[in-house]
Amino acid sequence: MNRYEHDVIVIGAGAAGLTLALRLAESLRVAVVAKGPLTECATLYAQGGISVVLDKEDSVESHVDDTMEVGAGLCDPQVVRYVVERGKQAIQWLIDRNVPFTREQHHDGTASYHLTREGGHSHRRVIHAADATGRAIETTLEQQARSHPNITLLEYHIAVDLITGAKLGLPSNRCHGVYVLDREHDRVDVFRARFVVLATGGAGKVYLYTSNPDVSTGDGVAMAWRAGCRVANMEFIQFHPTCLYHPQAKSFLISEAVRGEGGRLLLPDGSRFMDRFDRRGELAPRDIVARTIDHEMKRLGAECVYLDISHKPAEFIKSHFPTIYQRCLEFGFDMTRQPLPVVPAAHYFCGGVVTDIRGRTDIDGLYAIGETACTGLHGANRMASNSLLECLVMAESAATDIRAAIATAPAPPSLPAWDESRVTNSDEEVVVTHNWDEIRRFMWDYVGIVRTDKRLQRAKHRIDLLLQEISEYYGNFRVTNNLVELRNLALVADLVIQSAMLRRESRGLHYTLDFPESDAVHPPQNTVLAPHLAAGPAPKLRGIGF
Ligand code: FAD
Ligand code: SIN
Repeated sequence: MNRYEHDVIVIGAGAAGLTLALRLAESLRVAVVAKGPLTECATLYAQGGISVVLDKEDSVESHVDDTMEVGAGLCDPQVVRYVVERGKQAIQWLIDRNVPFTREQHHDGTASYHLTREGGHSHRRVIHAADATGRAIETTLEQQARSHPNITLLEYHIAVDLITGAKLGLPSNRCHGVYVLDREHDRVDVFRARFVVLATGGAGKVYLYTSNPDVSTGDGVAMAWRAGCRVANMEFIQFHPTCLYHPQAKSFLISEAVRGEGGRLLLPDGSRFMDRFDRRGELAPRDIVARTIDHEMKRLGAECVYLDISHKPAEFIKSHFPTIYQRCLEFGFDMTRQPLPVVPAAHYFCGGVVTDIRGRTDIDGLYAIGETACTGLHGANRMASNSLLECLVMAESAATDIRAAIATAPAPPSLPAWDESRVTNSDEEVVVTHNWDEIRRFMWDYVGIVRTDKRLQRAKHRIDLLLQEISEYYGNFRVTNNLVELRNLALVADLVIQSAMLRRESRGLHYTLDFPESDAVHPPQNTVLAPHLAAGPAPKLRGIGF
């Protein structure tokens, strides 16, 4: 076993984790662990861009209003304003780091950053690097993190569980470190630190069809919950309306920016349909577009609908969407000449670990940032391209808070080694693969775009059985990457189901046939779940809006 000691451990190397690490490394020693290759994360695949007020005609007020409207009554206005106001500064930080955002030339000879449009935005407001914005950000930050003397990067290291005061039998439930499985050496190491930051991204892999990469298994939410943190709004899963429908495409995303630049949604008979459901047509917020597609597919028994931008000049399409154009060609679709077959897929978790505006969780010394966190920005539905913005702004916020607190933060106590005395190597890996498949399928069928009480009850019944089985398995066998992920996936699925069962209305991304309207009588409420810890003090109430 190896023992590591740092000022700060960041779990996750996406936009949130790497931004935080680079901001802290000016004065602190930081370790960043990533469970796969460093750049394999949702950030790498982000297409559309980052929403930010740069246009003279646009305003912070307008960005705040749009975010609140899309969030369907559950955005925290203070948090929305906080994040939106800091957008320009966050983008400037990326520009200073040489992220190659797309520029456009004007007739008068001047140039500026090109801004695209996406659903819910009332202005052109999305800065981007063609259609591969995430790759431009991730690879730029990766290079700088790799060459920074104060940053230690550990790839193929998967965090298993947080080490807290409650687990050590101490009077205070502060976070002191984390157990991490070194996948190459098949060994669980102990990491000690004054601060631990969860930047583990989302959990799209809970669903059978998802735009997310394989690493998105909700590990941060599960670890935080087991350690005693509250989670909120887990029922609000965003389904992206347009992923390529092809058996080998693994739900490859067709960016909302394609609709922003004029793409039309068509039924199999070639007719448009979005205008019949929402005045904003193809640029209605995602919950509405995804639900409408689901409705039309079910009504017609269709396998997919179509997204058509072939009426635009081929050169325009190729220059705005080079990645999407190429990838679709590989699957036999030329988007300059034909409509693309598309279906919705799980895309983004609006809920997560409850944090305040500094990224602090209920546990001292533990922060959560990026998609793992629930800050109150997104409410019941995230507006397009507000996620990367939140990653950047909250990473800066957390960095400022950690820098201010480091001098007075207690040094961690000595931590016990990982105990493997009662486990053996598994002789039944099939249990892991079977349970993994089962969860993803019933979550898709029963806890998907359209829910009912009956479907949720079915899902709850199954997840209870699986949680029991997985817990037994976990107690008997050595941890592996797949087992760690399965245990987390099952817990996150349960939190989603529990939260969905508690919401007795339809709101934002949660739609149930049993309560098809929003509750017009009571003020909108966040769904907050608190873990019942066997030991340790109750979590402190610190999050804004929670
Ligand atoms: P991620 O980028 O997912 O990084 C998570 C990191 O945590 C990874 O390094 C992973 O290895 C690590 N990790 C996870 N668990 C563990 C563990 N147990 N131990 C160690 N490491 C762990 N948002 C926008 O705003 N604009 C867009 O245009 C946009 N397009 C998108 C397109 C796609 C296809 C997808 C999937 C998402 C898109 N989003 C977009 C959403 C946005 O990309 C994500 O919400 C955001 O990138 C999340 O960043 P993050 O840093 O929180 O997590
Ligand atoms: C997209 O490009 O459609 C994704 C944007 C987002 O998820 O914010």
